[in-house]
Amino acid sequence: METINNKLFLGSVSAEALIEKFGSPLYVYEEDKIIEQYNKLKDAIVYPKKKLYYAAKANTNIEILKLLNNEGSCIDAVSPEEIYLSKKAGFSSEKILFTGNNTSKEDFKYCIENDILVNIGSLDQIEQYGKLNPNSKISIRINPDVGAGHHDHCITGGPNSKFGIYFNKIDEIKQMVKKYNLMIVGIHEHIGSGILDTSKFLLAMDVLLKTAKEFDNLEFVDFGGGIGVPYHPKEKQLDIAEFGKSISDKFNDFCRDYGKELYLCLEPGRYIVAESGFLLAKVVNKKSTPNYVFAGINTGFNHLIRPAMYGSYHHILNASNMEDEEEKIVVAGNVCESGDVFTQGENGIEERSLPKIKIDDILAIMQAGAYGFSMASNYNSRRLPAEVLVKQGESRIIRKRQKFEDLI
Ligand SMILES: Cc1ncc(COP(=O)(O)O)c(C=O)c1O
Repeated sequence: METINNKLFLGSVSAEALIEKFGSPLYVYEEDKIIEQYNKLKDAIVYPKKKLYYAAKANTNIEILKLLNNEGSCIDAVSPEEIYLSKKAGFSSEKILFTGNNTSKEDFKYCIENDILVNIGSLDQIEQYGKLNPNSKISIRINPDVGAGHHDHCITGGPNSKFGIYFNKIDEIKQMVKKYNLMIVGIHEHIGSGILDTSKFLLAMDVLLKTAKEFDNLEFVDFGGGIGVPYHPKEKQLDIAEFGKSISDKFNDFCRDYGKELYLCLEPGRYIVAESGFLLAKVVNKKSTPNYVFAGINTGFNHLIRPAMYGSYHHILNASNMEDEEEKIVVAGNVCESGDVFTQGENGIEERSLPKIKIDDILAIMQAGAYGFSMASNYNSRRLPAEVLVKQGESRIIRKRQKFEDLI
């Protein structure tokens, strides 16, 4: 991303030209940024036996999956549909780990038929899987009694969480796997999403590694995803080199005691794709109330739900006018709900200072590459936007805008 002559350029293509070519609203991803993030994290982990399982839920566009397949990534899938897409993108079965929750027998059967290793987070579900596929290998998801994340909805460890088997249920796990002659080859946790302070991640890691010592046949330990990126200008990037070194050191020590070099696995989603993505939309309205000046754009929380759902901050740029004198403004969407406002802060709707906005300007909502399109819906029956990949002055469409007929 760069500014040239007061205009925003993505992958060396002007945002206005992209809208001209592909229409508005539009999801745009910078290809180089995805590759950069993947390799930055991979290189930061100095422990040599490592695997990154890209958490497909963050963005399942098949072209993005293909890019990550080319880089050597594996896949964390949470539904048969994500397995299907990953296989279509070229991932082989052994590169996919299925971490369902509240998984149906049909979903388990899909995994069995497709030779996908399942990661199971409940004793009852181990039993159900054991009946369907006795004498097989499984991975287990542990709740380490530690949770972290950017919002309560995204904290997936600790006593309020529906995920994982509590770390102190080792005897019950052993009995259950014995009953169906299952072999535990992997042990997993995922404590939450959007973590910028890694202290809880490291604490949870200690709990999982202590638990791992109880199981003799492990091939890997998977510490989940959750690595955050800054959304607000006042947030700092995580020191990824330091993080990679800390987890590598801990894992090295563990493997020495365990007596075998296991795979160290992580499941990053947001870290890989969030910063590559921008939701571009056109300003279609400007109005004021006694409290605010509003700029209305032709997209809404149906296309990017994070601000309305979590109150998440997303930085917004005026792609048509990057450097002009600023005005205070609230940016609102076109969904028929008052909460459809993109300028959300700690206390709900807030004004932002943005370079002067006029009708037909293009606004760019940043960090929209993760949990953007993948959480989008047809609410208000609006069509889903197109998605475009940009790289070194080239743009290519990777998902067509929905047509009216697609709504039926
Ligand atoms: C099991 C599991 N792994 C990985 C992730 C990816 O999280 P993030 O995108 O924050 O890295 C999630 C997100 O919900 C998850 O549930």
